[in-house]
Parts: sequence; C-alpha cells; structure tokens
Amino acid sequence: MKYGHFDDEHREYVITRPDTPLPWINYLGSEDYFGLISNTAGGYSFYKDARLRRITRYRYNNAPLDFGGRYIYLRDEKDGGYWSPSWQPAQRELSEYSCRHGMGYTIIASTYGGIRAETRYFVPLGENLEVWQLTVTNQRDTKAELSVFSAVEFCLWDALDDSTNFQRNYSIGEVEVEDQVIYHKSEYRERRNHFAYFACSEKCEGFDTQRESFLGSYRSWDHPLAVERGKCSNSIAHGWQPVGSFHLHLSLLPGEQKKIIFILGYYENRKDQKFDPPDSQIINKQQVKPIIKKYLHQSNVTSAFASLRSYWDDVLGSFQVQTPNEHLNRMANIWNAYQCMVTFNISRSASSFESGVGRGLGFRDSNQDLLGFVHMVPPRARERILDLASTQLPSGGAYHQYQPLTKRGNNDIGSNFNDDPHWLVIAVAAYLRETGDWSILEENLPYDNKLGSEMPLYEHLQRSIQYTLDCLGPHGLPLIGRADWNDCLNLNCFSDVPGESFQTTTGKDGKIAESVFIAALFVESTRAMADLAGNYASQHRKNSWSFQINPPKHYHELADRMTQAIYEHGWDGEWFLRAYDDFGNKVGSNECEEGKIYIEPQGFCALAGVGLENGMAKKALDSVHARLVTPHGITLLQPPYSKYYLHLGEISSYPPGYKENGGIFCHNNPWVMIAETRTGNGDRALDYYLRINPSVREELSDLHRCEPYVYVQMIAGRDAPTHGEAKNSWLTGSAAWNYVAVTQWILGIRPTFDGLCVSPVMPSAWDGFEAVRRYRGVRYTIHVERRGDGNGISLEVDGSAIHGTTIPFPPDGTKNVRVTVKVG
Ligand code: GLC
Ligand code: GLC
Repeated sequence: MKYGHFDDEHREYVITRPDTPLPWINYLGSEDYFGLISNTAGGYSFYKDARLRRITRYRYNNAPLDFGGRYIYLRDEKDGGYWSPSWQPAQRELSEYSCRHGMGYTIIASTYGGIRAETRYFVPLGENLEVWQLTVTNQRDTKAELSVFSAVEFCLWDALDDSTNFQRNYSIGEVEVEDQVIYHKSEYRERRNHFAYFACSEKCEGFDTQRESFLGSYRSWDHPLAVERGKCSNSIAHGWQPVGSFHLHLSLLPGEQKKIIFILGYYENRKDQKFDPPDSQIINKQQVKPIIKKYLHQSNVTSAFASLRSYWDDVLGSFQVQTPNEHLNRMANIWNAYQCMVTFNISRSASSFESGVGRGLGFRDSNQDLLGFVHMVPPRARERILDLASTQLPSGGAYHQYQPLTKRGNNDIGSNFNDDPHWLVIAVAAYLRETGDWSILEENLPYDNKLGSEMPLYEHLQRSIQYTLDCLGPHGLPLIGRADWNDCLNLNCFSDVPGESFQTTTGKDGKIAESVFIAALFVESTRAMADLAGNYASQHRKNSWSFQINPPKHYHELADRMTQAIYEHGWDGEWFLRAYDDFGNKVGSNECEEGKIYIEPQGFCALAGVGLENGMAKKALDSVHARLVTPHGITLLQPPYSKYYLHLGEISSYPPGYKENGGIFCHNNPWVMIAETRTGNGDRALDYYLRINPSVREELSDLHRCEPYVYVQMIAGRDAPTHGEAKNSWLTGSAAWNYVAVTQWILGIRPTFDGLCVSPVMPSAWDGFEAVRRYRGVRYTIHVERRGDGNGISLEVDGSAIHGTTIPFPPDGTKNVRVTVKVG
C-alpha cells in the first residue's frame, strides 16, 4: 500500500495522507541553517550543529511520535472550532491533505471546513532563517472570520543540556519582543552572542512567549489554551520554557485568499556590539532588522524560492539519465542525489533516528559520503576534505568523529578504528578524479588541529597507508583496532558490564584480531594512491618536499602483498573470511557455528580487484547469492548470532536479523553490486539494486514503513520477525554507495585521472540508455545502445572511434562532447 506518489516533474514526493507509518521527513537548508520537517510539520531547526546550536525543541521517542514542530493553528471565530492545517498536533480530520517534499522545501496543504491552507517551508540560500509562507483561501460561499496562531518552542541552545539540566534551565530563559518580533535570547547576557527570532508579516493581535501561558497548564500542543480561547496573553518568558506564538485575525470573503509570512531565524552579533545601547542588556538589532524586513515581503520570498529551485536545477544537472527503469531514473536523477547532499550536510547527526546530540561528523562516514556528492559541489567537497584531514593524527590514524562547530576531533570516542584512514585516501582520489584540482595535495594541514604540525595533504595520505603497515597482525592482515567499517564487530572489546560502550571499551591489547575487510580496503586505497602518485609526480607536482614521496610501484607492491595475504589467510574455500578474533580463530568461516559468512569482504574484495584473477571473487559472489540474498536485499551475515558472544562484541548484542547481526545493510549491498559489475554480471547488479531501491519499495510502504524516497541504513533481515521493515532512513552511507554503484558501475560513467570513463555493465534486457554528465566544465551527452549480448564496449567520441573506454580530456574551451557507446 502507498501513502502518496512521486511527482518527478516537480522533483517532489507527494504524501496524500498524514498518518504515514512513521513521520516522513525532509530537510530544509543547504549551508549553515538546517531544519528537519515531517509531513505533519514536526521537526526542529539548528544552526550548523544539531547539538550545540539547537534553535527549537523536539521530543524524540514520544507518543505520539513526532512532537515539536512548526505549528500553525486556524480557528473559526464563528464557533471556536480549530484545527492544524498540517494535521498534527490537533489531528482533526481534514477533507483534503497533501505534503509535497521537494528539494530543500516542503509544502503542506489541506482543507478543513471549506478553508484551504497551504504552507511552504524553506530556507533561502545564503540566509540563516526559514520562511513559512502561509496562504489561506476561503472556499466557502460565506465570509470567514478566522484566527491564525503560529507556535514554536525554543531550545536553550545545547540540546543535551536542554533536555537534562532543568535545575538551571528553568531559570535562564529570556526573550525580548519588539515590533512584532520575538527574540529568544537565553544566555545572551553571558557568553553567547547569538539569538533566535520569530517574526510575522501581518499585524498581530497578540503573542505569547511563555509556554504555560500559551498551552495552559497540563495541556499539550493539541489543544492550547490560547487557541481554544481565541486569544494570546502577551506573556513574556522568564525562565521556564520560552516559546514564540503570534495571533492574528483573518477576514476572508468567499473565494478570497491571503498570504502571511512567518520567519524563524538565527543571528550572531559581534561580541563588542552585542547590546544597544552598549551599556544595556538589550539585543543590538541593527544588523538583523533589515534581514527580517526583507523576508517579511512576499515578493522577496517568492524570488528566494525561485533561486532555491534553480540552485537545485543546477546541482542535479550535473548528472541525468534516462534508462528503461523508472525507479532507477528517479533515484539517480532526483532523490538519491538529493540524499547525498543531505548526508553531506548533516552527516549522521540529526534525523528521526539520530537525535542530533549523539554524533558529530564521522571520519569514515563523511569521507564515504563525499563519493556521492563530489560531482555536485566540488568546492564544498574540497573544504570537507581539508577539515577531515586536519583532524587526522600524526600516526596516520584518525579521530572517529569530529564536531562540525569546532572542527575538532571528538575525544569521547577517540580513534583506533583501523579502517578510518583509508577512507580519506579514497575520498581524495575521488575528488581528484572529478576535479583535477591537484593543488589540494599541496595544502598544508595540521595533524589533530595542532598549530605547527602542518604537512601537505599528500603526506597525510601517505601516513594513512603507513598507519596500516604499522599495525599488521599475525597473518600479515591489518589489525582491526576498535572496529572496522562494521562498528559492531568489536573483537578487542570483551565487555561484560551492562551499558559500557562497545565502541570505546578495550579489553585486549589488540595485537591479534585482524580484519579481512580492512585488507581489501587497503588494496583499494593503495591502488588509488598508486594512480594518484603517478599522475601527481609526472604532471602536477609544484613543490619539492622534505619528506619522501613513494613511487606508484611502491603502492602496487603493497597492494600485491596484501592481496597475497588475503589469498593465503583470508579465503575460506567458498568465500572470503571476515576476520580473525583475539584468539586467532576465524570469524565468518564455514567452520563457525554462527556468522559463517559476512557480506563485507565478499563485496569489497571484488570491488578492489582481489580475486578477479583467480576466480575467488566470482565464487564468493555466488556464495552471497546462495546464502545472503533475500527479497528485501542482501543480509549482512548468516546465520545471525543467537546469543551474546563476549569476544565478538556489539554485533551479537542485536537480536537476530537486526542491524549488523543479519540485518540488510543498504550501505554494503552496493559493494556487492559493484563487485557483480566487475565480474560482468549486470543482471545481478541491477537485481540487487532494485531489491533495496526505495522507489521500488514504495508499493510495500506498510511493511517498509520509512520514506519511499530515500535509502535507509537497514532493512530487517530474514531472521527478524519484521523482515522487510526499514529503519534509520536518510543519514546513511547507503546514499553515496548506491549512487556510486548505479551511476559509475552499472551505468559505468565514472571519472578517472585520465578522463571520463564510459563502461556500462548493462542488464541484458536493456536496449540502451541516454545520459548527460557534467565533468570538468564539459557537458558529455552519452548515448548507449545494445548491439548484441555481453559487455563488449566500443566508443565513438564526436563521431570518431576511440580506443578503450576512457575519453581523453578534450581541448581547452570544449563545452560539449557527444559519446556513442555500443554494447555487446
Ligand atoms: C553506521 C555507522 C558507520 C558504520 C556502519 C556499520 O552506519 O555510521 O560508520 O560503518 O554503521 O557499522
Ligand atoms: C551503534 C550502531 C552502529 C553504529 C554505531 C556508531 O553501534 O549499532 O550501527 O555504526 O553505533 O557509533
């Protein structure tokens, strides 16, 4: 069953009933100011950091779900009846309802008692504010006398402290109200130079800023006293819970329509200009007032919205494709690309499943996310790389996470996740293949953000590789450290204390447990490093450095040696082993009672080229097909662990079929898709892809439950009672990897150091496809057609046949290149 439909022309998903199985959310904002917004206007906003600069409150894990939002109430003055045009929180039955989630905006529209209300929510480009543009239409044949109430609840900035430290927080809330603007200024008197504001474009009857005055005591947002009574009480918050609410009258003739704007924003004053007059405690509003004024004007809001639309036209225009499969097209052209941009902005911090207080930006996560957005916003990818590399440790290791506001490594979680450093190499290689901006390698960046430790990015990459060489285990495979990509395979943890962190507890010295996955990742990253080193040294190097630069050969030898170690110690007969535990025993082997086969090394070995030459890769992929594949995707392992194993850690803490213990991780399914293309099996690659493609799964919305327009982290595996149910939507490496698998491997359009490669591994049933790829300022128009069976490729570029599958860089000044590809 479906709860809406795709509108591809407008790049929207249209939800047509409000009671979706879970809140189906979207994101507002694309630079510094962000918000989550559900299909019933729930959600919250923050500036840069969802924990440290939370603007509004949200109540996670509440009943009903999704409480706290951007609420509007309409009240009929005739009989005092009121409703929420976004359904929540009042939950009246609406005669018409739709929520259009689009690229950076959401429009919620509904009709109740002949009054239609539509609210468009978005963040104008370049601004730290959100607009709620409300249009109310009287569809009755009589005049309507209405009241409008708006409501937000402010958060006292640090979201964690806000939800725990009540002894202090109940006394510090402060606001100012001036010229119909509510300013939230808790802690402004002391060390904060920033405040939030909430404003309305039309003349208001009143306002409230104290929550209890607006709601009444012991009442909830579904029936606020002020709305019931039809009047605010102009309350000024002192302590307790500051809110922002405006009340206005609306008188509408039959057929008449009126527009009202509310804006919610964030502003930071200079420290020496905080107060006006300077010796007062009053916010200096000189700088913010013109901004507020601007966005309370309909025409400015309308043009800001048009700019947002064209921004997305441009971003998404970097890659567009038309294949015979509409689900693939829709995801690749619209939603998957959009989700990649969201993961770039938000990382894993704030969603329906991430509270915004838990995690900053993950080192491995952000580097992988980059693979999915680098072609859309290359300069921002560059910045992200520099930030990430500056948190790297001198050993080449990495902080597992950093806080976006401070850009410092997070000490609570620390380092020693031994896969981390390699993702930096992979991200930088992707950036260079995309942009050819070799100057990035010469950026001087610190280690651990320490002044004086600066080294060129190039040396950071060399140290990433060295890091693994410095921690090889008994079989010559990389030691796993706290964990590798699979954060829950904690082979050195040995925790038997309830509540102790699996991520940071270390019970063993870490000298035995090895990871076959990191071995494969190492091969991939050293091969990338070899290409990068070769290109850099021969063509692009500007500086000479004091540290040693290794030639490509060095990296190929390392990759060869690691490949041999995998062949000798990482092969189980039918598939690749996953790891060795702290006792030196195999993990992910047919010899194991549970957890016999894991997905990660099967996909990643073939992806990295390991086992392609000797048939191991193919065999491993056949084992995946036989043992791990379900109708809802490929499970992470089989059989799942039925009990807790001290020596395996968190993976065995999950009930069978969930998360890393046999759930379907949509993040590593694409590794298998890529692997299948590397062994020439486009049919299987597409088949796997379509099993987890959200748009395909739209039909199963009752089972799947999460948004049908974005990937989730996990779908419950076959051993879970709810097999096929999705969780953890939006913020997941699934976005980047599915995008890469589809666009670069199935469609085969991928940047290389030598030009754009076009090498599709097309499903046998397809007769071809069309694509447009913007690459280094050139527009490639690609026409692919099947001429016969198999994957043979011949390329014509602007009418002339070329050798191989990589199109050499065209002469400077070229704007368009036409590519014809014959397959078979
Ligand atoms: C989560 C983490 C990611 C990890 C994955 C598998 O998605 O964010 O870092 O690789 O789980 O454990
Ligand atoms: C938990 C999750 C795992 C995630 C990790 C990140 O262990 O189960 O998926 O990667 O937290 O900290």
